[in-house]
Amino acid sequence: MSKITVWFIRVAMSYFIIAAGMGVLMIIWPWWTRTYIPGHAHLNLLGWISMTIYGVAYHIIPRFSGRPLYSNRLAWLHFYLANIGLIGMVLFFGFVGHGNLRYEKHLLYSAIVEFTSIVIFVYNMMRTIKSAEG
Ligand code: HEM
Ligand code: HEM
Repeated sequence: MSKITVWFIRVAMSYFIIAAGMGVLMIIWPWWTRTYIPGHAHLNLLGWISMTIYGVAYHIIPRFSGRPLYSNRLAWLHFYLANIGLIGMVLFFGFVGHGNLRYEKHLLYSAIVEFTSIVIFVYNMMRTIKSAEG
């Protein structure tokens, strides 16, 4: 397995534990939901689910296409931006709270970093698939 896959799976597992733990704590202290639902949701969906998919995709897509990954450097850039963006989002979602969305510049910056990471991932995958075409 490549290092990028191992690291995506490692961080995904860590986010899963933290996010599920937040879920249990929200049940114990229901007033936490006002603050932590968006953090819990995105730690699960961008942290656990998406990062597991990223890890598996970096392993599977090059093998399915019979070509090496288009760019290993872009894959690592994706890794760092996805993690920095997600941690920022979870932190600053906490400042905003649930169902109370308002302009918060740090949340916006984190969201842009996360979004950029997604675009880099999609680009890298599309180039890898393209190189295997026909
Ligand atoms: C031990 C595991 C988990 C526990 C105890 C837990 C608990 C909770 C609780 C208490 C809420 C707030 C519900 C409310 O007040 O409306 C919540 C919301 C949510 N959870 Fe979890 N959760 C767990 C795992 C997961 C996983 C694995 C995912 C996704 C992969 C997930 C996605 C969500 C989402 C998207 C919301 C927000 C739903 C909404 O906006 O109404 N949770 N969870
Ligand atoms: C760059 C990536 C993303 C950004 C910037 C983003 C942003 C947001 C924002 C601002 C909200 C509203 C939160 C609120 O009600 O206060 C939200 C809710 C939600 N998002 Fe995302 N999101 C992203 C990615 C995703 C992905 C990939 C998924 C699913 C795989 C997802 C699932 C959800 C769900 C289920 C909710 C409703 C739960 C909640 O109220 O927190 N999001 N998102």
